[in-house]
Amino acid sequence: MKSTNKNLFPIFEDIIQRKDKENLLNQNSKVIWLTGMSGSGKTTIAKGLEKYLFSKGIINQILDGDNIRVGLNKNLSFSESDRTENIRRIAEVSKLFLNSGVVTINCFVSPLKKMRQLAKDIIGKEDFIEVYINASLETCKQRDVKGLYKKALNGKIKNFTGISSNYEAPEQADLELITNEKSFNESIEELSKFVLPKIKK
Ligand code: ADX
Repeated sequence: MKSTNKNLFPIFEDIIQRKDKENLLNQNSKVIWLTGMSGSGKTTIAKGLEKYLFSKGIINQILDGDNIRVGLNKNLSFSESDRTENIRRIAEVSKLFLNSGVVTINCFVSPLKKMRQLAKDIIGKEDFIEVYINASLETCKQRDVKGLYKKALNGKIKNFTGISSNYEAPEQADLELITNEKSFNESIEELSKFVLPKIKK
């Protein structure tokens, strides 16, 4: 990738390459991108997948919206442009992990198709595994683990996905897990079986 600033000279050569690091770790790095509304089960499923991959000797890192937004992205709101910047930064961070041979499990609402496309373009389509964590709005509202739907419905949170801000469901995700039809354990098992062959050398 070329820099747009003529005074910058990013290094790509004479440094240890991604494939060497993947060989050392005995794994292929990938970005597993979980998209879905708040309360759909992204974080719960990510934690299950993290444990499963670790038990198989795969070094991986969860990148989660709530965590990233209290640190790296603490200056960003939930406007469309700030959400896009949130996703852009996290895609760049994911690429750093990818180049160090580490698998990331990304949990971001990433509500619009163009945001997920941006992430895919930055990461590269061959390394981007899109997983749609699909739960109906009714289910998410009922679960309301963080109490955010209640607040959003009372007008206490603006731009809340599913209530006052749009969620565009993926049409061609690599995998879709419908979490109001199956248990989280079943979803974790299905996802684990789907990703392991892509990661294991
Ligand atoms: S994204 O839209 O920019 O991808 P991200 O995944 O980082 O969102 O953050 C979503 C998390 O922030 C939710 O799980 C929820 O806990 C919290 N949150 C706070 N305000 C909002 C909001 N307006 N819309 C959605 N999630 C929100």
